[in-house]
Amino acid sequence: MAEQRQLRLGTILHGASGNMSAWRHPAAPADASINLDFVKETARKAEAGKLDFLFVADGLYINEKSIPHFLNRFEPLTVLSALASVTEHLGLVGTLSTSYSEPFTTARQFASLDHLSGGRAGWNVVTSPLEGSAKNFSRDRHPDHALRYRIADEYLRVVKGLWDSWEEDAFVRDKASGQFFDPAKLHAIDHRGDFFQVAGPLNIGRTPQGRPIIFQAGASDDGKKLAAAHADAIFTHQDTLEEAQAFYRDVKQQRVAAGREEGDLHIFQGVSVIVGDDAEDAERQYQTTAALVSVENALNYLGRYFEHHDFSQYPLDAPFPELGELGQNSFRSTTDAIKRDAKARQLTLRQVALEAASPRPRFSGSPEQVADGLQHWFEHRAADGFIIQGGTPESFTHFVDRVVPVLQARGLFRRDYPGRTLRESLGLALPVNQFTQQ
Ligand SMILES: Cc1cc2nc3c(=O)[nH]c(=O)nc-3n(C[C@H](O)[C@H](O)[C@H](O)COP(=O)(O)O)c2cc1C
Repeated sequence: MAEQRQLRLGTILHGASGNMSAWRHPAAPADASINLDFVKETARKAEAGKLDFLFVADGLYINEKSIPHFLNRFEPLTVLSALASVTEHLGLVGTLSTSYSEPFTTARQFASLDHLSGGRAGWNVVTSPLEGSAKNFSRDRHPDHALRYRIADEYLRVVKGLWDSWEEDAFVRDKASGQFFDPAKLHAIDHRGDFFQVAGPLNIGRTPQGRPIIFQAGASDDGKKLAAAHADAIFTHQDTLEEAQAFYRDVKQQRVAAGREEGDLHIFQGVSVIVGDDAEDAERQYQTTAALVSVENALNYLGRYFEHHDFSQYPLDAPFPELGELGQNSFRSTTDAIKRDAKARQLTLRQVALEAASPRPRFSGSPEQVADGLQHWFEHRAADGFIIQGGTPESFTHFVDRVVPVLQARGLFRRDYPGRTLRESLGLALPVNQFTQQ
Protein backbone atom coordinates (compact mmCIF):
# COMPACT_ATOMS: atom_id res chain seq x y z
CA MET A 1 0.00 0.00 0.00
CA ALA A 2 1.33 3.45 -0.85
CA GLU A 3 2.32 5.44 2.21
CA GLN A 4 -0.12 8.23 3.06
CA ARG A 5 1.17 11.68 2.10
CA GLN A 6 2.03 13.49 5.34
CA LEU A 7 0.87 16.98 6.15
CA ARG A 8 3.65 19.37 7.29
CA LEU A 9 3.17 22.11 9.86
CA GLY A 10 5.09 25.17 10.97
CA THR A 11 4.23 28.31 12.86
CA ILE A 12 5.29 31.91 12.46
CA LEU A 13 6.46 34.32 15.13
CA HIS A 14 4.34 37.39 14.72
CA GLY A 15 4.39 39.28 17.97
CA ALA A 16 1.18 38.79 19.93
CA SER A 17 -0.31 37.14 16.80
CA GLY A 18 -3.81 38.00 15.63
CA ASN A 19 -4.04 41.37 13.91
CA MET A 20 -1.85 44.48 14.08
CA SER A 21 -3.53 45.63 17.32
CA ALA A 22 -3.64 42.26 19.05
CA TRP A 23 -1.00 43.41 21.54
CA ARG A 24 -3.92 45.22 23.21
CA HIS A 25 -5.82 41.93 23.70
CA PRO A 26 -6.16 41.00 27.39
CA ALA A 27 -4.44 37.64 26.79
CA ALA A 28 -1.46 39.12 24.91
CA PRO A 29 1.93 40.07 26.32
CA ALA A 30 2.10 43.63 24.96
CA ASP A 31 5.84 43.28 24.30
CA ALA A 32 5.56 39.82 22.67
CA SER A 33 7.81 40.72 19.68
CA ILE A 34 10.79 41.40 21.91
CA ASN A 35 9.99 39.09 24.83
CA LEU A 36 12.36 36.12 24.92
CA ASP A 37 10.31 34.18 27.46
CA PHE A 38 7.25 34.46 25.25
CA VAL A 39 9.24 33.37 22.19
CA LYS A 40 10.70 30.39 24.05
CA GLU A 41 7.23 29.40 25.21
CA THR A 42 5.95 29.54 21.62
CA ALA A 43 8.84 27.39 20.41
CA ARG A 44 8.33 24.83 23.16
CA LYS A 45 4.62 24.72 22.39
CA ALA A 46 5.38 24.13 18.71
CA GLU A 47 7.74 21.33 19.68
CA ALA A 48 5.15 19.79 22.03
CA GLY A 49 2.82 19.68 19.00
CA LYS A 50 5.61 18.00 16.93
CA LEU A 51 5.52 20.84 14.42
CA ASP A 52 8.19 20.84 11.75
CA PHE A 53 9.47 24.36 12.29
CA LEU A 54 9.18 27.85 13.68
CA PHE A 55 9.40 30.56 11.04
CA VAL A 56 10.67 34.11 11.55
CA ALA A 57 9.79 36.72 8.91
CA ASP A 58 11.72 39.96 8.63
CA GLY A 59 11.95 43.41 7.08
CA LEU A 60 14.65 46.06 6.72
CA TYR A 61 12.81 49.34 6.88
CA ILE A 62 10.31 50.89 9.26
CA ASN A 63 8.72 54.24 9.71
CA GLU A 64 6.26 55.62 12.24
CA LYS A 65 3.36 54.02 10.36
CA SER A 66 4.71 50.48 10.52
CA ILE A 67 2.73 47.98 12.59
CA PRO A 68 3.80 47.49 16.21
CA HIS A 69 5.42 44.10 15.58
CA PHE A 70 7.74 45.62 12.97
CA LEU A 71 8.82 48.51 15.20
CA ASN A 72 10.60 46.50 17.86
CA ARG A 73 11.44 42.84 17.17
CA PHE A 74 14.29 40.35 17.23
CA GLU A 75 16.62 39.85 14.27
CA PRO A 76 15.83 36.34 12.94
CA LEU A 77 19.20 34.55 13.17
CA THR A 78 19.90 35.92 16.62
CA VAL A 79 16.63 34.78 18.13
CA LEU A 80 16.80 31.41 16.36
CA SER A 81 20.27 30.83 17.80
CA ALA A 82 18.84 31.42 21.27
CA LEU A 83 15.99 29.00 20.54
CA ALA A 84 18.42 26.34 19.30
CA SER A 85 19.51 25.74 22.87
CA VAL A 86 16.03 25.42 24.39
CA THR A 87 14.56 23.07 21.74
CA GLU A 88 15.68 19.72 20.35
CA HIS A 89 13.66 18.85 17.29
CA LEU A 90 12.00 22.00 16.06
CA GLY A 91 13.21 23.39 12.71
CA LEU A 92 14.40 27.00 12.93
CA VAL A 93 13.69 29.01 9.78
CA GLY A 94 14.83 32.63 9.46
CA THR A 95 14.34 35.26 6.78
CA LEU A 96 17.32 37.01 5.24
CA SER A 97 17.31 39.23 2.17
CA THR A 98 19.52 38.61 -0.86
CA SER A 99 19.23 42.28 -1.82
CA TYR A 100 20.97 43.66 1.26
CA SER A 101 23.57 41.17 2.43
CA GLU A 102 26.66 39.29 1.28
CA PRO A 103 26.54 35.61 0.30
CA PHE A 104 29.66 34.71 2.29
CA THR A 105 28.23 36.09 5.54
CA THR A 106 24.83 34.51 4.94
CA ALA A 107 26.29 31.10 4.09
CA ARG A 108 28.38 31.26 7.23
CA GLN A 109 25.57 32.37 9.54
CA PHE A 110 23.11 29.70 8.42
CA ALA A 111 25.83 27.03 8.48
CA SER A 112 26.56 28.09 12.06
CA LEU A 113 22.89 27.84 12.99
CA ASP A 114 22.73 24.39 11.43
CA HIS A 115 25.72 23.25 13.52
CA LEU A 116 24.45 24.95 16.68
CA SER A 117 21.03 23.31 16.38
CA GLY A 118 22.19 19.87 15.28
CA GLY A 119 20.69 20.20 11.79
CA ARG A 120 17.58 22.30 12.19
CA ALA A 121 18.36 25.49 10.23
CA GLY A 122 16.31 26.88 7.38
CA TRP A 123 16.79 30.08 5.38
CA ASN A 124 13.77 31.92 4.00
CA VAL A 125 15.15 33.69 0.94
CA VAL A 126 13.49 37.04 0.22
CA THR A 127 14.42 39.91 -2.06
CA SER A 128 13.05 42.76 0.14
CA PRO A 129 9.95 44.53 -1.09
CA LEU A 130 10.42 47.87 0.66
CA GLU A 131 12.02 50.78 -1.23
CA GLY A 132 13.10 52.42 2.03
CA SER A 133 15.50 49.54 2.74
CA ALA A 134 18.00 51.20 0.38
CA LYS A 135 18.29 54.14 2.77
CA ASN A 136 19.46 51.81 5.55
CA PHE A 137 22.15 50.17 3.44
CA SER A 138 24.00 53.13 1.93
CA ARG A 139 22.32 52.69 -1.46
CA ASP A 140 20.93 55.37 -3.74
CA ARG A 141 18.03 53.26 -4.88
CA HIS A 142 16.22 50.02 -4.22
CA PRO A 143 16.91 47.49 -7.00
CA ASP A 144 13.83 46.92 -9.14
CA HIS A 145 11.82 43.69 -8.96
CA ALA A 146 13.42 41.87 -11.93
CA LEU A 147 16.94 42.87 -10.90
CA ARG A 148 16.32 41.70 -7.32
CA TYR A 149 15.44 38.24 -8.60
CA ARG A 150 18.51 38.09 -10.91
CA ILE A 151 20.68 38.95 -7.91
CA ALA A 152 18.88 36.33 -5.80
CA ASP A 153 19.52 33.59 -8.35
CA GLU A 154 23.26 34.24 -8.49
CA TYR A 155 23.37 34.73 -4.73
CA LEU A 156 21.83 31.30 -4.14
CA ARG A 157 24.28 29.63 -6.50
CA VAL A 158 27.17 31.21 -4.58
CA VAL A 159 25.81 30.25 -1.17
CA LYS A 160 25.14 26.66 -2.21
CA GLY A 161 28.68 26.46 -3.59
CA LEU A 162 30.11 27.80 -0.33
CA TRP A 163 28.14 25.24 1.66
CA ASP A 164 29.91 22.56 -0.39
CA SER A 165 33.38 23.93 0.51
CA TRP A 166 34.15 21.04 2.82
CA GLU A 167 33.27 17.42 2.24
CA GLU A 168 31.56 15.76 5.15
CA ASP A 169 34.63 13.88 6.38
CA ALA A 170 37.19 16.59 5.53
CA PHE A 171 38.25 17.22 9.13
CA VAL A 172 40.28 14.17 10.20
CA ARG A 173 41.77 15.78 13.34
CA ASP A 174 44.36 13.04 13.74
CA LYS A 175 46.29 13.95 16.90
CA ALA A 176 48.96 11.32 16.30
CA SER A 177 49.92 12.47 12.80
CA GLY A 178 49.02 16.11 13.27
CA GLN A 179 46.77 16.11 10.22
CA PHE A 180 43.79 18.38 10.90
CA PHE A 181 42.03 18.12 7.56
CA ASP A 182 42.32 16.39 4.21
CA PRO A 183 43.18 19.02 1.56
CA ALA A 184 41.61 16.85 -1.18
CA LYS A 185 38.26 17.40 0.52
CA LEU A 186 38.43 21.19 0.54
CA HIS A 187 36.99 23.12 -2.41
CA ALA A 188 37.00 26.80 -3.38
CA ILE A 189 34.25 28.07 -5.67
CA ASP A 190 36.21 30.93 -7.32
CA HIS A 191 32.94 32.53 -8.36
CA ARG A 192 33.04 35.54 -10.68
CA GLY A 193 29.56 36.61 -11.76
CA ASP A 194 27.48 39.68 -12.64
CA PHE A 195 26.94 40.68 -9.02
CA PHE A 196 29.32 38.72 -6.82
CA GLN A 197 32.98 37.76 -6.77
CA VAL A 198 33.52 35.15 -4.10
CA ALA A 199 36.58 32.91 -3.89
CA GLY A 200 35.70 30.68 -0.93
CA PRO A 201 36.15 28.30 0.75
CA LEU A 202 33.74 28.87 3.63
CA ASN A 203 35.26 28.89 7.11
CA ILE A 204 32.87 26.35 8.60
CA GLY A 205 32.48 22.68 7.74
CA ARG A 206 29.67 20.85 5.97
CA THR A 207 26.56 21.10 8.08
CA PRO A 208 24.53 18.32 9.72
CA GLN A 209 21.83 18.67 7.05
CA GLY A 210 24.38 18.75 4.22
CA ARG A 211 23.17 22.28 3.85
CA PRO A 212 20.39 24.24 5.58
CA ILE A 213 16.86 23.94 4.15
CA ILE A 214 16.00 26.68 1.67
CA PHE A 215 12.61 28.36 1.85
CA GLN A 216 11.50 31.01 -0.59
CA ALA A 217 8.76 33.62 -0.16
CA GLY A 218 7.64 35.65 -3.15
CA ALA A 219 4.83 34.61 -5.46
CA SER A 220 5.32 36.57 -8.69
CA ASP A 221 6.46 34.75 -11.85
CA ASP A 222 10.08 35.55 -11.03
CA GLY A 223 9.54 34.37 -7.46
CA LYS A 224 8.09 31.04 -8.59
CA LYS A 225 10.95 30.55 -11.04
CA LEU A 226 13.50 31.12 -8.30
CA ALA A 227 11.73 28.66 -6.02
CA ALA A 228 11.47 26.01 -8.74
CA ALA A 229 15.22 26.25 -9.34
CA HIS A 230 16.52 26.48 -5.79
CA ALA A 231 14.09 25.95 -2.95
CA ASP A 232 13.15 23.01 -0.75
CA ALA A 233 10.03 24.79 0.49
CA ILE A 234 7.86 27.79 -0.35
CA PHE A 235 6.02 30.10 2.00
CA THR A 236 3.05 31.55 0.17
CA HIS A 237 -0.44 32.83 0.73
CA GLN A 238 -3.46 32.64 -1.54
CA ASP A 239 -6.95 33.66 -0.54
CA THR A 240 -9.02 30.94 -2.18
CA LEU A 241 -8.70 27.21 -2.72
CA GLU A 242 -8.75 27.70 -6.50
CA GLU A 243 -5.96 30.29 -6.42
CA ALA A 244 -3.88 28.10 -4.13
CA GLN A 245 -4.39 25.08 -6.39
CA ALA A 246 -3.38 27.11 -9.46
CA PHE A 247 -0.24 28.31 -7.66
CA TYR A 248 0.55 24.77 -6.51
CA ARG A 249 0.17 23.29 -10.01
CA ASP A 250 2.19 26.03 -11.61
CA VAL A 251 5.14 25.77 -9.21
CA LYS A 252 5.22 21.97 -9.31
CA GLN A 253 5.19 22.04 -13.12
CA GLN A 254 8.03 24.54 -13.15
CA ARG A 255 9.92 22.30 -10.74
CA VAL A 256 9.63 19.37 -13.11
CA ALA A 257 10.57 21.57 -16.07
CA ALA A 258 13.70 22.59 -14.12
CA GLY A 259 14.67 18.89 -14.07
CA ARG A 260 13.81 18.32 -10.41
CA GLU A 261 11.37 16.11 -8.51
CA GLU A 262 8.09 17.83 -7.61
CA GLY A 263 7.93 15.94 -4.30
CA ASP A 264 11.09 17.56 -2.94
CA LEU A 265 9.55 21.02 -2.98
CA HIS A 266 7.02 21.55 -0.19
CA ILE A 267 4.47 24.31 -0.65
CA PHE A 268 3.34 25.90 2.62
CA GLN A 269 0.27 28.09 2.74
CA GLY A 270 0.41 30.71 5.48
CA VAL A 271 -2.97 30.50 7.22
CA SER A 272 -4.55 32.13 10.18
CA VAL A 273 -6.76 29.98 12.44
CA ILE A 274 -9.18 30.54 15.30
CA VAL A 275 -10.19 27.49 17.31
CA GLY A 276 -13.32 27.58 19.45
CA ASP A 277 -15.86 25.23 20.95
CA ASP A 278 -17.97 25.81 17.85
CA ALA A 279 -18.29 28.27 14.93
CA GLU A 280 -20.12 30.81 17.09
CA ASP A 281 -17.42 30.80 19.74
CA ALA A 282 -14.72 31.26 17.06
CA GLU A 283 -16.67 34.19 15.55
CA ARG A 284 -16.93 35.83 18.96
CA GLN A 285 -13.15 35.47 19.39
CA TYR A 286 -12.59 37.00 15.94
CA GLN A 287 -14.85 39.99 16.68
CA THR A 288 -13.06 40.67 19.97
CA THR A 289 -9.70 40.83 18.18
CA ALA A 290 -10.97 42.71 15.10
CA ALA A 291 -12.50 45.43 17.32
CA LEU A 292 -9.01 46.40 18.50
CA VAL A 293 -8.04 47.90 15.10
CA SER A 294 -8.86 51.54 14.28
CA VAL A 295 -9.51 52.67 10.68
CA GLU A 296 -6.45 54.96 10.82
CA ASN A 297 -4.24 52.04 11.78
CA ALA A 298 -5.78 49.91 9.05
CA LEU A 299 -5.02 52.57 6.41
CA ASN A 300 -1.38 52.63 7.51
CA TYR A 301 -1.23 48.86 7.39
CA LEU A 302 -2.58 48.81 3.85
CA GLY A 303 -0.25 51.62 2.80
CA ARG A 304 2.87 49.62 3.65
CA TYR A 305 2.16 47.11 0.87
CA PHE A 306 1.95 50.01 -1.62
CA GLU A 307 5.35 51.60 -0.92
CA HIS A 308 4.00 53.29 2.22
CA HIS A 309 1.31 55.08 0.21
CA ASP A 310 -0.85 57.56 2.17
CA PHE A 311 -4.41 56.25 1.88
CA SER A 312 -5.84 58.89 4.23
CA GLN A 313 -6.14 61.22 1.20
CA TYR A 314 -9.12 59.24 -0.23
CA PRO A 315 -12.75 59.10 0.95
CA LEU A 316 -13.20 56.07 3.16
CA ASP A 317 -16.58 54.98 1.88
CA ALA A 318 -16.01 55.50 -1.85
CA PRO A 319 -14.87 52.61 -4.09
CA PHE A 320 -11.25 51.53 -3.57
CA PRO A 321 -9.11 54.09 -5.48
CA GLU A 322 -7.49 53.46 -8.86
CA LEU A 323 -3.76 53.10 -8.12
CA GLY A 324 -2.24 52.41 -11.53
CA GLU A 325 1.20 50.81 -11.23
CA LEU A 326 1.60 51.55 -7.52
CA GLY A 327 2.81 48.45 -5.70
CA GLN A 328 4.53 46.83 -8.70
CA ASN A 329 7.97 47.41 -7.25
CA SER A 330 7.14 46.38 -3.70
CA PHE A 331 4.83 43.52 -2.69
CA ARG A 332 3.78 42.89 -6.30
CA SER A 333 1.85 39.63 -5.88
CA THR A 334 0.07 40.94 -2.78
CA THR A 335 -0.84 44.36 -4.20
CA ASP A 336 -2.09 42.77 -7.44
CA ALA A 337 -4.38 40.52 -5.37
CA ILE A 338 -5.70 43.43 -3.28
CA LYS A 339 -6.53 45.48 -6.40
CA ARG A 340 -8.18 42.52 -8.13
CA ASP A 341 -10.26 41.60 -5.11
CA ALA A 342 -11.39 45.19 -4.45
CA LYS A 343 -12.63 45.47 -8.04
CA ALA A 344 -14.31 42.06 -8.15
CA ARG A 345 -16.16 42.54 -4.85
CA GLN A 346 -16.72 46.31 -5.35
CA LEU A 347 -15.22 47.14 -1.97
CA THR A 348 -14.76 50.57 -0.43
CA LEU A 349 -11.42 51.76 0.87
CA ARG A 350 -12.63 51.27 4.45
CA GLN A 351 -13.55 47.64 3.74
CA VAL A 352 -10.26 46.87 1.99
CA ALA A 353 -8.22 48.44 4.79
CA LEU A 354 -10.07 46.72 7.64
CA GLU A 355 -9.98 43.35 5.90
CA ALA A 356 -6.25 43.72 5.25
CA ALA A 357 -5.51 44.78 8.81
CA SER A 358 -7.74 42.22 10.46
CA PRO A 359 -8.19 39.38 7.99
CA ARG A 360 -10.78 36.78 8.81
CA PRO A 361 -9.05 33.54 9.72
CA ARG A 362 -8.72 31.13 6.80
CA PHE A 363 -9.95 28.27 9.00
CA SER A 364 -12.04 28.72 12.11
CA GLY A 365 -14.59 26.92 14.27
CA SER A 366 -14.38 23.77 16.33
CA PRO A 367 -11.12 21.75 16.29
CA GLU A 368 -12.75 19.33 13.83
CA GLN A 369 -13.86 22.17 11.55
CA VAL A 370 -10.35 23.64 11.49
CA ALA A 371 -8.89 20.19 10.80
CA ASP A 372 -11.48 19.67 8.03
CA GLY A 373 -10.36 22.89 6.35
CA LEU A 374 -6.68 21.99 6.48
CA GLN A 375 -7.38 18.46 5.28
CA HIS A 376 -9.48 19.73 2.37
CA TRP A 377 -6.77 22.07 1.11
CA PHE A 378 -4.10 19.42 1.63
CA GLU A 379 -5.99 16.63 -0.13
CA HIS A 380 -7.04 18.89 -2.99
CA ARG A 381 -3.44 19.82 -3.68
CA ALA A 382 -3.60 23.44 -2.60
CA ALA A 383 -0.72 22.87 -0.15
CA ASP A 384 1.75 20.31 1.15
CA GLY A 385 1.58 21.96 4.54
CA PHE A 386 0.67 25.07 6.47
CA ILE A 387 2.37 27.82 8.42
CA ILE A 388 -0.06 28.47 11.22
CA GLN A 389 -0.60 31.95 12.57
CA GLY A 390 -2.96 32.44 15.47
CA GLY A 391 -5.99 34.57 14.63
CA THR A 392 -6.01 35.72 18.26
CA PRO A 393 -3.17 35.68 20.81
CA GLU A 394 -4.60 32.43 22.22
CA SER A 395 -5.18 30.58 18.96
CA PHE A 396 -1.79 28.93 18.50
CA THR A 397 -2.01 27.24 21.91
CA HIS A 398 -5.55 26.12 21.08
CA PHE A 399 -4.32 24.81 17.74
CA VAL A 400 -1.60 22.65 19.29
CA ASP A 401 -3.80 21.40 22.13
CA ARG A 402 -6.97 20.77 20.15
CA VAL A 403 -6.39 20.58 16.38
CA VAL A 404 -3.07 18.70 16.18
CA PRO A 405 -4.54 15.65 17.99
CA VAL A 406 -7.41 15.56 15.46
CA LEU A 407 -4.95 15.64 12.55
CA GLN A 408 -2.91 12.89 14.24
CA ALA A 409 -6.00 10.73 14.84
CA ARG A 410 -6.84 11.07 11.15
CA GLY A 411 -3.35 9.83 10.21
CA LEU A 412 -2.55 13.11 8.47
CA PHE A 413 0.12 14.29 10.88
CA ARG A 414 2.78 12.21 12.65
CA ARG A 415 2.82 11.65 16.40
CA ASP A 416 6.56 12.07 16.82
CA TYR A 417 9.62 13.44 15.10
CA PRO A 418 11.28 10.98 12.71
CA GLY A 419 14.77 12.19 13.64
CA ARG A 420 16.68 15.22 14.85
CA THR A 421 16.97 17.34 11.71
CA LEU A 422 14.51 19.55 9.85
CA ARG A 423 15.50 17.69 6.68
CA GLU A 424 14.31 14.42 8.25
CA SER A 425 11.09 16.04 9.48
CA LEU A 426 10.37 17.24 5.97
CA GLY A 427 11.35 13.91 4.40
CA LEU A 428 14.00 15.50 2.19
CA ALA A 429 17.08 13.66 0.94
CA LEU A 430 20.60 14.76 1.84
CA PRO A 431 22.05 16.94 -0.93
CA VAL A 432 25.01 15.76 -2.97
CA ASN A 433 28.14 17.89 -2.78
CA GLN A 434 28.60 19.56 -6.20
CA PHE A 435 32.36 19.02 -6.02
CA THR A 436 32.06 15.26 -5.63
CA GLN A 437 29.23 14.77 -8.12
CA GLN A 438 30.23 12.48 -11.00
C1 LIG B 1 3.97 34.89 1.71
C2 LIG B 1 5.08 35.90 1.56
C3 LIG B 1 5.93 36.14 2.63
C4 LIG B 1 6.97 37.08 2.52
N1 LIG B 1 7.79 37.30 3.59
C5 LIG B 1 8.73 38.25 3.51
C6 LIG B 1 9.54 38.58 4.64
O1 LIG B 1 9.44 38.01 5.72
N2 LIG B 1 10.47 39.56 4.48
C7 LIG B 1 10.65 40.25 3.31
O2 LIG B 1 11.50 41.11 3.24
N3 LIG B 1 9.89 39.94 2.23
C8 LIG B 1 8.95 38.99 2.31
N4 LIG B 1 8.20 38.71 1.21
C9 LIG B 1 8.43 39.55 -0.01
C10 LIG B 1 9.24 38.94 -1.13
O3 LIG B 1 10.48 38.51 -0.71
C11 LIG B 1 9.47 39.90 -2.27
O4 LIG B 1 10.45 40.84 -1.98
C12 LIG B 1 8.23 40.68 -2.68
O5 LIG B 1 7.05 40.09 -2.30
C13 LIG B 1 8.16 40.71 -4.14
O6 LIG B 1 8.16 39.41 -4.63
P1 LIG B 1 6.89 38.73 -5.30
O7 LIG B 1 6.30 39.80 -6.17
O8 LIG B 1 7.56 37.61 -6.03
O9 LIG B 1 5.92 38.24 -4.27
C14 LIG B 1 7.16 37.78 1.30
C15 LIG B 1 6.31 37.52 0.22
C16 LIG B 1 5.27 36.59 0.32
C17 LIG B 1 4.40 36.35 -0.88
